[in-house]
Amino acid sequence: MAISKRVKDALEGASWVRRMFEEGEELKQLHGEENVYDFSIGNPNLEPPSSLKKALKELADNPIAGMHRYMPNSGYSETRKAIAEYLTEETGLRFEEKNVVMTVGAAGGLNVVFKSILDEGEEIIVPSPYFMEFRFYIENCGGRIRLVQTNDDFSLNLKEIEKAIGARTKAVLVNTPHNPTGVVYDKESLMGLSELLKAKSRELKKTLYLISDEAYRRIVYDGIELPMIFHYYPHTIRVTSHSKDLSLPGERIGYIAVGPECEDFDELISALVFANRTLGFVNAPALMQRLVAPLQRNSVKVKDYEEKRDLLYHSLKEFGYDVVKPQGAFYIFPKTIIEDDVVFVKELQSKRILTVPGRGFGKPGYFRISYAVEKRVIEGALPGFKEVAKKYRLIGK
Ligand SMILES: Cc1ncc(COP(=O)(O)O)c(C=O)c1O
Repeated sequence: MAISKRVKDALEGASWVRRMFEEGEELKQLHGEENVYDFSIGNPNLEPPSSLKKALKELADNPIAGMHRYMPNSGYSETRKAIAEYLTEETGLRFEEKNVVMTVGAAGGLNVVFKSILDEGEEIIVPSPYFMEFRFYIENCGGRIRLVQTNDDFSLNLKEIEKAIGARTKAVLVNTPHNPTGVVYDKESLMGLSELLKAKSRELKKTLYLISDEAYRRIVYDGIELPMIFHYYPHTIRVTSHSKDLSLPGERIGYIAVGPECEDFDELISALVFANRTLGFVNAPALMQRLVAPLQRNSVKVKDYEEKRDLLYHSLKEFGYDVVKPQGAFYIFPKTIIEDDVVFVKELQSKRILTVPGRGFGKPGYFRISYAVEKRVIEGALPGFKEVAKKYRLIGK
């Protein structure tokens, strides 16, 4: 066999998001792009802020000597300082340049964190439904994913997390705002999780990490403020990126921020920098590091996503769908009307609507809609969502 068994198995279980995206491409060839309503992939449709484009042009016109060379593996000092300043302002805690490691997106950042902390067979606890790539990132580094179910409203089930923590546990990974549900964890649940981790760390006589994937941190609605996990648990590692808040997913720019009071801080940072280097990233993209440094307080027009959330949520409710109202990110995760989510998603596909079955996120019986799309895509798809609801008698004819 030419390829590893692990990769072969992974390929056979191919990503549902990719599968639906690719089937969508075929449908588009058949019916024309404008007649297919593609909600399969979480690819931001908004353009990056115009200030970024301006800065890019300015840099191209006035290049800095050496700007394309190798740099420290943790990234440019100026960029890390700018992010540390922002984090200090945001948290009231003392973040410095040394707390920040620039990474190749949040995906690169998560791989770096797992590589740094995991020994063979150690476990990362992940609430499910979840972003499926987490499994591969953890397994890349010899670890094991340990899934725990959330409550019905997708909030954290602390009892389940408590039951799952054991001798092999290295960290709990939370993602807020959440892909695929759009849920934002509230202060009480994060404080509860922090207390649990403190108690379990004492009991197990080792410090458990809390890894917080906040790739959608600035995409929140209804004026809510995202709780600051750093305030509750000192051994927190935040992983984030500018893929969503500045609409730069193709540019692969993100960072890891380690809480100032994190245990064995210096050793952890050295490990992160080493992993960034030896996983082959070497450093995060140079050009992007320069461009995002002054944009720490900027983001795309979140209101635009919020309006789409409102349109979809209210329409789906009206059609009879059972759905939790998302408070962030750009996903909504309704229950499928029939039990089999793959059959249901096919039914929507017959209306030229592309979504992803919940089993692609560890939760059969649901489906994910990514609404980082043009408004006309949502408007075009609403009659199809309604017809399917009618077919299964959620609403009258
Ligand atoms: C929850 C979550 N984490 C991480 C990522 C990876 O993002 P990035 O483009 O920053 O690598 C994604 C991308 O969709 C995501 O949904």
